[in-house]
Amino acid sequence: MTKNENCILEVKNVSKIFDVGTEQEKGVLHDVSLELERSEFLCVLGPSGCGKTTLLRCIAGFEDYEGSVLVNGAERRKPGTDRIMVFQDFNQLFPWKTVEKNIQYPLKIQGIRDKAELKRRTEEALAMVKLSGQEKYYPYQLSGGMKQRVAIAKALALKPKIILMDEPFAALDAMTRNELQSELLRISMEEKCTVIFITHNIQEAIVLGTRIIVLAEGGKIVVDEKNAIPRPVTPASEGYGATWERLHRALYQ
Ligand SMILES: Nc1ncnc2c1ncn2[C@@H]1O[C@H](COP(=O)(O)OP(=O)(O)OP(=O)(O)O)[C@@H](O)[C@H]1O
Ligand SMILES: [Mg+2]
Repeated sequence: MTKNENCILEVKNVSKIFDVGTEQEKGVLHDVSLELERSEFLCVLGPSGCGKTTLLRCIAGFEDYEGSVLVNGAERRKPGTDRIMVFQDFNQLFPWKTVEKNIQYPLKIQGIRDKAELKRRTEEALAMVKLSGQEKYYPYQLSGGMKQRVAIAKALALKPKIILMDEPFAALDAMTRNELQSELLRISMEEKCTVIFITHNIQEAIVLGTRIIVLAEGGKIVVDEKNAIPRPVTPASEGYGATWERLHRALYQ
């Protein structure tokens, strides 16, 4: 068991070296440690190439690494439905499956066979992302924003302990991005989701995060702070400007 009762995830001294023993050998994460509390929305900022995606992939169990990742005090080295990843790519859905079948596929793998239960979970998840009634569409019939909504619905339907999001809104236009930020904020507050959310966008981190960290080279955590600005955060919120400047300085130092 962990010391902090609210702690859901512990990343302990995680190091990652790619292509060990070859000419391309590259150390990316050095001894990264991090604790995440239940219902925390952790936004991760950091320059390109500093290891954000690699860290998330280690947590998701998609990479081998040194160190350990614990969920509720138990070590997790392989992917599992307790940690679901949502990617930036619009093409993370199966193109040959409808919205409904995309959402239900991982549920079926989970062993849920009951048709009524599958339907209920699908409808619930689609309602959360404001896509009710879109079950029968194929991904090619959806906009980029809608595809990302389905990807989020797919993750929500699984009711994971932790949702891992790697710049899920980065490829969207500014208006759709703002809209999806608001939706995700509402969902995370209503459902008390625990989220790790990578972004390059300081505004996004301040609007969504209950906590914000900034990574530097090697995955070194150079800022780790609670976001005390009351939600919903707007650029007019007290403290917004100072927080933005502080994060900007840390990011571009
Ligand atoms: N499969 C791989 N094999 C070898 N090197 C890799 C691999 N994946 C990532 N890297 C290297 O690890 C470093 C960190 O990559 P990573 O994708 O984690 O960065 P990032 O912080 O997510 O960057 P970005 O903000 O551009 O997405 C980079 O130097 C990259 O070249
Ligand atoms: Mg990345």
